[in-house]
Amino acid sequence: MLIKRGRLRPFDGTITGADPFAVIVDGALVLDDGEVIDHGTAAAMIDAYPEAPVVDSASLLTPGLYDAHIHYSQSRIIGTFAGGLLEWLESVTFPEEARFDDPSYAAMVAREFCDALEAVGTTSATVYCTSHPVSVDALFDEARGRQLRICAGLVMMDRNAPSALLTPAQDAYDQARELIERWHGAEDGRLTYAITPRFAPTSTPALLEAAAALWQEFPSCTMQTHLSESTDEVEWVRRLFPDAPDYLGVYENFGLVGPGAIFAHAIHLSDREVGLLAESGAVVAHCPTANRFLGSGRCDVARLLKAGVAVQLGSDVGGGTTFDMMEVAAEAEGVTRHGRAPHGD
Ligand code: GUN
Ligand code: ZN
Repeated sequence: MLIKRGRLRPFDGTITGADPFAVIVDGALVLDDGEVIDHGTAAAMIDAYPEAPVVDSASLLTPGLYDAHIHYSQSRIIGTFAGGLLEWLESVTFPEEARFDDPSYAAMVAREFCDALEAVGTTSATVYCTSHPVSVDALFDEARGRQLRICAGLVMMDRNAPSALLTPAQDAYDQARELIERWHGAEDGRLTYAITPRFAPTSTPALLEAAAALWQEFPSCTMQTHLSESTDEVEWVRRLFPDAPDYLGVYENFGLVGPGAIFAHAIHLSDREVGLLAESGAVVAHCPTANRFLGSGRCDVARLLKAGVAVQLGSDVGGGTTFDMMEVAAEAEGVTRHGRAPHGD
């Protein structure tokens, strides 16, 4: 038994807690064989467990952090710059992702990735693999036994990327289905599956239909994709899907907007798109370090929050420059204007 004393973010069993900004300045965790069995003010914990030795901690004692958007396959290309989003995908990202057809390479990076999450206190993440089923198996295999909560999926793409990364819609459907049956709900529910059409530009209508069919069959899966990250991308989507009212309208037309969907970035949006995000119950993953690194523009988080859109934070490694969600949070739009200082100091 051990009492760890320091600044403590209390945890009441819910994701945000009754007050997400609450901090107990002189708090303590009580550990039994490495497991947290109690927490509260230091005075109360020392009183309740008088035999336990007390160690001071300079770190913030916090429940595990959540990363709503990250690419494990990009762990090794953090900080590799190559122009804006579309150039970066083509010249840096796709060549790296092509290496994940090799199960031993995928296993090695999956190990590095899980180590990196644990090192910064991230215990839960929603993750992109690559378009190779072995990349998904490698990540889930690595996560099991580590007690990480990982939601992840096979990236589905059938156009506008190197052929080594493309999978025809029907094959992608079959492969994803098999992975869902293998992994969704595994390890006591800590491992779950995310249906992952990469984004509209690398999707034919048939691919988006395949993703939507999977989601209808497995509605408890997450659905994740990218939305309106750069202006070049938005323009490209307009040309590829001329009949859609806007970028989010492409996903909407295929039944991919609803609760359980996570849209990463969501920077360049019309009022209609913001309204639809709010009423659909979908989530926006705000990725401030990636938006800065790739020069994608400023996400008006205040506008999203005001409209009632749920916003979570993503590191977006490797477009993002850090795994550390405390650094991501510090860069997030809206923290200074909408957060308030923790009480006590
Ligand atoms: N849009 C489509 N794919 C990607 C990706 O891998 N990273 C980022 N930041 N945006 C994307
Ligand atoms: Zn991303």
